[in-house]
This record gives sequence, structure tokens and C-alpha cells, in this order.
Amino acid sequence: MEALHLALFGNPVAHSLSPAIHQAFADQCGLKLDYELILATEENFSEQLEQLRSSGARGCNITVPLKVPAHNIADTLSTAAATAGAANTLVFQQHGVFADNTDGLGWLKDLDRTDTSIKGKSVAIIGAGGAAAGITPVILAQSPDTLVIANRSPEKAADLLRQQLNPNFRSVSLKQLHQPDLPKFDLLVNATSIGHQGKHPELFPELFNPDALLYDLNYGTAAEPLKTWCNNNGIRYRDGLGMLVEQAALAFTLWTGKSPETQAVLSDLRSKLRQKN
Ligand code: ATR
Repeated sequence: MEALHLALFGNPVAHSLSPAIHQAFADQCGLKLDYELILATEENFSEQLEQLRSSGARGCNITVPLKVPAHNIADTLSTAAATAGAANTLVFQQHGVFADNTDGLGWLKDLDRTDTSIKGKSVAIIGAGGAAAGITPVILAQSPDTLVIANRSPEKAADLLRQQLNPNFRSVSLKQLHQPDLPKFDLLVNATSIGHQGKHPELFPELFNPDALLYDLNYGTAAEPLKTWCNNNGIRYRDGLGMLVEQAALAFTLWTGKSPETQAVLSDLRSKLRQKN
């Protein structure tokens, strides 16, 4: 049986959990897998991508900092990739490269596990980089009552809401998140990378409605600071490990047409990470 050839492009890539996740999916489907990690820069990305493509690979995952270049390089785009302006999955097709962004839908699938609905609720996103860009269209499509995007550089938050005329959809600075005229939130998503610096965004328990959820797009050690803050302040918390598995499953479906079962893969990954720490 010929192996399914896939890869992940990014910088860094060495510690990625994607090879283990895709190996588990391939095992479920009885497929042999060859999943490469490719450390690439914006400068050599297109050359490396062409090399991978001509080697007969089916496609690849894309992570930071290449999601925007991947979107720009593609011949055709899914609506999700076009709306986010970034791609996390490329599929090599006969006549070109198709780009999708499965981050938003993957996040929504994991959010479903928490019984949190968005429709009619007040939602905040902290951060306005690539991760926030991936989930903003998905949140807007679910018709929240309020969406506030708070970012250190508020103009980037404003960019994400540029086409929105609803006055309940607002961009603010991190400090303005604590303004008295903002509603309390039912769902607050941390889309900053502050956790990688061992810190968490400054938050107050008063920002949250009772039973609110804080969803952190980070996982592993980058998620620890905010997880600890939530535990100490009685706020429901979920990290981004489930989103990682779900976005991977959606990508796997694009490449193979098969829909792997994700819950067992997620539970296994969680217990492996726990053993490591
Ligand atoms: P990603 O693809 O993970 O979203 P990114 O595009 O670099 O990465 O975005 C990182 C996000 O974390 C941004 O919203 C960034 O704020 P700025 O847009 O103002 O740069 C936010 N961030 C990172 N470090 C931060 C810090 N120390 N304090 C506040 N925000 C921070």
C-alpha cells in the first residue's frame, strides 16, 4: 500500500502534535502515513511547497507564520480561507493548490463539547492576530447578540470587524475591555499568544456572566497561566487541544474523504500530555 504523504509547514514545527494526531487518524482508517515536518521561512516557502507537491504528496497543514502566505499562494480558496485571509490546509489538486481554513469550524466543533451556544449571547475575543481572524467569521455566522474584540493594538481588532455595521460588534483596546458600558460576557476567547511568554491577559471575574466559559485557543504550557487564573477565580475554562484535533480531522477529510473519530484521539493526547508534565 502506498503511504499517504502529508506535511506540516511552519516555524517552529519540531514540537508539533500534528504528526501524532494524523497518525492516529490514519491508523483508524487503515492507511499508511508519511507525515513530514518542514521548517520553512516566508522566503523559501513557495519553493519548498513546490518540492513537496512534485514528490506526490496529497497536501499539507500550515501553521504560524505561514498561514497568510499559504492563502496568497493558493490557486483556489474555500470561503473560510478567503474570509479569514489565511489558510491552515492546502490540498494538491491536479490543476493547482486549493486552500482551506479549518480552524474556525474545528473550534466550533470543540466548543459544542462544552454545551456553549453563541446565538444571542455576548462574546468577547481577546487578541486580533491570525488565531482571532480564523474564528471571528465563525462566531459572526452564529449570530451573537454582542461581539467585542479587544486587542493591545486596537486598530487590528477594528480590521477584523471592518465590514460589520451592527453597533453591538465593537473593537476596543485591552484596557477598554473593562469599561462599564460593556456587557458581561457569556463566552470569552483568548486568542492572544501571551501564554507563550508565561503570562495571561489581565482579566477580572466581573467581566463574566455566571456560568460563562473562557475558551483559550492555547494548549500545553502556553495555556497554563490563564488556566490557573480561571481555576483561582471560579471561571469555567477550556484549552485549545480539542480545537487542534478537530481542525486536523477536517483537514484529514479534505485529503482522504474519510471522517476520523476525534474524541478518542483527544482523550489519548490529553493523557499523554499529562504524563509528560
Ligand atoms: P496568532 O497567529 O497565534 O494569532 P499573532 O498573529 O502574532 O499570532 O497574534 C498574536 C496576538 O497576541 C495579537 O493579538 C497580539 O497583540 P498585537 O496585535 O497588539 O501584537 C497579542 N499579544 C501577543 N503578546 C502580547 C502581550 N504581551 N500583551 C498583549 N497582547 C499580546
